[in-house]
Amino acid sequence: MKPAILVTRAIFPEVLTRLSGYFEVESNQDDVIFTPAELAAKLKGKVGTLATASAKFNTELLQQLPGLKMVASMAVGYDNIDVPACTAHGVMASNTPEVLNETTADFGWALLMATARRVTESEHWLRAGHWTKWRYDSFLGADVHGATLGIIGMGRIGQAIARRSMGFDMKVMYHNRSRLSAEQEAHANHAQYVSKEELLAQADHVVLVLPYSPASHHCIAAAEIELMKPSATLVNLARGGIVDDQALIAALRKHRIAAAGLDVFENEPKFHPDFLTLKNVVLTPHIASASEATRRAMANRAADNLIAGLIEGKPRDWLNPMA
Ligand code: 8YV
Repeated sequence: MKPAILVTRAIFPEVLTRLSGYFEVESNQDDVIFTPAELAAKLKGKVGTLATASAKFNTELLQQLPGLKMVASMAVGYDNIDVPACTAHGVMASNTPEVLNETTADFGWALLMATARRVTESEHWLRAGHWTKWRYDSFLGADVHGATLGIIGMGRIGQAIARRSMGFDMKVMYHNRSRLSAEQEAHANHAQYVSKEELLAQADHVVLVLPYSPASHHCIAAAEIELMKPSATLVNLARGGIVDDQALIAALRKHRIAAAGLDVFENEPKFHPDFLTLKNVVLTPHIASASEATRRAMANRAADNLIAGLIEGKPRDWLNPMA
């Protein structure tokens, strides 16, 4: 008898086939979003699960699942997993770092450029049939080249975003929990380590790529937006909850900053309806890692972790190695 696992969401069929070589797989190709009670019921009798960021693994769930040995998440961010609770329940947890760095950094630039140069706003206007003549002041945006880029959260994705700024002759400032080495700073377009306040005051374009935690909750709220230049743009690629969406909506409405580009939202996939009433915001549905190759790589990396964890007791991207 093969050990039983649950794949919580729809996934590439070839990944299910791979997993079937090792496990009795219960899949969810209809992509039903399970309630916590349904998830608990589905996980009963399973030793492992390949999950996504939409499933929450906390004490309440884990204490119902004494047989569970491993949660392999298909995401780099793991704020949905209570790692200490996993450790306390003897459950290995893993994420999928590295494989999405470059794709996510590419998308950060797509969002930054679209936001600064009003790409989606002008397209909507064109599609609505408003384009009858050229005007000197149509859709004037902010330059990206030569501007100051501020990156909050200078991990692997932040550094990949900074490297791309070399081609735009930008000055880079960053804020992070800890300072990078001199060599890492040099590779990141000679990024300068500054306080969050200085970064917000100096940057023309602010990009958020820090992990979500109680410490980073509403790290950008009304007081922080107040420090920004009126011409600045803000891009959030990280997690909803890092930005106070209500405060951002108020700031965008009164043009306290020029524009925002958001791939993540508080309470997504629901999001604050007022965003839809604003022209100076670019909205995308959490797709920063969504290239064909990268999503496949993430799914396979999560599968690798689950196989290595459950067969050898040692997943590659182990978040809670236990003694
Ligand atoms: C995922 C992400 O698409 O990796 C992450 O942390 O936010 C995205 O790449 C999403 O979390 C799906 O699990």
